[in-house]
Amino acid sequence: MKTMVSAAVLFVMGYTYILSLAFKQQDVYEDLWTESMDIADKTLHVDFMQQMQKNSLQAERYVHFTLQDINYLVQVTDMLKTMSKKVNKPKDISDFLIARYKSYNSFLDTLLLQYFFKVTPFIKPTPAMVKYMASYRETMAKDPIYFVVGLLPCARLWKWLANNADIPKTNVYYTWKVDNMDGHPEKHYKALLNKYLTTPEQISNATALFRMQMQNEHDFFATS
Ligand SMILES: *[C@@H]1O[C@H](CO)[C@@H](O)[C@H](O)[C@H]1NC(C)=O
Repeated sequence: MKTMVSAAVLFVMGYTYILSLAFKQQDVYEDLWTESMDIADKTLHVDFMQQMQKNSLQAERYVHFTLQDINYLVQVTDMLKTMSKKVNKPKDISDFLIARYKSYNSFLDTLLLQYFFKVTPFIKPTPAMVKYMASYRETMAKDPIYFVVGLLPCARLWKWLANNADIPKTNVYYTWKVDNMDGHPEKHYKALLNKYLTTPEQISNATALFRMQMQNEHDFFATS
């Protein structure tokens, strides 16, 4: 009798374990990033990042990079504005787009003020930026969750680069590190991605898009 009970207990435990494996919620948010770590690592090693860490990056290169970054912000803020008006449901994605638009817009205002722009500047994008912006625009026509995915590489990569770059206080680019170290992308993106990316096809599309945007980020740094 005792052995039968133990056998039954073992059977139930085993069954529960298999069930828990089958229903274990996949953390898509984290997987997208982990599967693109090779690109993150490559970006940390491009000449621009290396010169930054050696404190020998030419000032002009940093100015060019900053101007391209301002243009990135102008363009993406504008796309967020369009998307936040276009997407009314689901409510959580709509709320996300409105919140990201407000956040990007206020950051852009701060930067324009800091660099003495009285009006939004027209900046000629580099070929790498033209390609990056075209990728963004393509995602605007798809299911809105993909636009959310497309925004994430920038948020995660800059934070990771800032935390992993060896830039001490005495380095002239220390403010770049400090300004980018403390974002909280998981707060805005994690729940949404894990909720809306569930089928293998959605996850595979999201993975391809995430990698493409990571590559676009890499190319921006590599050509800066
Ligand atoms: C995945 O991407 C393909 C090719 O762009 C598209 O046709 C398909 O509708 C997408 N599937 C989902 C679930 O988004």
